[in-house]
Amino acid sequence: MRIVHLSDIHFWQYVFNPLRLMSKRLHGMVALAAGRARRFELAGVPRLVDRIRSLDPDHILITGDLTTTALPDEFRAALRSLIEPLGDPGRITIVPGNHDRYTWWSHRSRRFERFLGDFAPADRYPWLRPIGDRTAILGLDPTRAAVTARGRLPSAQLDAARVLAESARARFDRLIVACHYPVAVPDDHRRELAGKRMINAEEVRAWLAEIGPHLYCCGHVHAAWAHRPGEVPDQLCLNGGAPLLTHRTGRTLPGFLEILLDGTEVTVHHHAWNGEEWIIRTLFRDLGFFKVR
Ligand SMILES: [Fe+2]
Ligand SMILES: [Fe+2]
Repeated sequence: MRIVHLSDIHFWQYVFNPLRLMSKRLHGMVALAAGRARRFELAGVPRLVDRIRSLDPDHILITGDLTTTALPDEFRAALRSLIEPLGDPGRITIVPGNHDRYTWWSHRSRRFERFLGDFAPADRYPWLRPIGDRTAILGLDPTRAAVTARGRLPSAQLDAARVLAESARARFDRLIVACHYPVAVPDDHRRELAGKRMINAEEVRAWLAEIGPHLYCCGHVHAAWAHRPGEVPDQLCLNGGAPLLTHRTGRTLPGFLEILLDGTEVTVHHHAWNGEEWIIRTLFRDLGFFKVR
């Protein structure tokens, strides 16, 4: 099975209507004006779509921050230029990021669900979505509205996730947890995550440490990695980075992940755009990752 995992596309749109500039979006718009948005090069979307389509994936998982300030026009642009051209909607799963619930009203009116609800099996979290006979995605939503970039997984959601993961273990060989916020990152990204972390990550890590081998697909930190966290030894934490972001430092190239699952075997390739062509780096390979230990 071939899964494409991407995250943090950050469609953006300048807004000049002063009513729309109220609240947290004002901060977001200022950040945009300061040049943040320009670093997300929307001209790269057709190239991204072509590359993903050429892989003919069985499933596409998008782990949030499709938009920048959760504007209806940003959601429409995401649907029109990315999601719809990717093909069969039944093969696409999307969980929200903090930018998809950027303002109090976008959260309150469930705008993310209104535009992208078709790409999840339920409109409340957590949920479990089977993909194929042996694999399931468990979706989580720790985003909070217009408060802070820090997330928190509500206790009721965590309790329900415990029950779902237990039932998934009986029915599926391979579990993929999809959540915008990482719970454990490589050392060189710890500082970046600190100001925008999931504040009850410790509690969530303690649960994940008990559920056995799983992939944890996330975003939020705009860098690509395949990381085995010491805190959650059975987890392979995957982040594709932001596919349209040209990083100031050049340290991380924009791209996405291709995850290959074959029996107990997991292989992860990073497809990255170097400015001229796509290059592929293999980040991870383990023949027995999903072997029952
Ligand atoms: Fe992001
Ligand atoms: Fe984020």
